[in-house]
Amino acid sequence: MYICNCNGITDKEVDTAVKAGVERWDDVHAFYGCEPCCGQCQCEIVEAIVEHDRNADDAAPAGVMAMAG
Ligand code: FES
Repeated sequence: MYICNCNGITDKEVDTAVKAGVERWDDVHAFYGCEPCCGQCQCEIVEAIVEHDRNADDAAPAGVMAMAG
């Protein structure tokens, strides 16, 4: 599914960029060598970044536990 219609960036490509460490919505575009145009994709990309951060936070204690144990 396309998230950014202006640049043809899909949800899977957004996930890939976020997992690679992109932290700002417009940096997702830079990751793929393009720039935002209309900005209508901002909310969905920000949601993907927040969701990724939330999952990373949830995973941290388990990771710490694994390292400790
Ligand atoms: S939909 Fe992403 S910049 Fe327009």
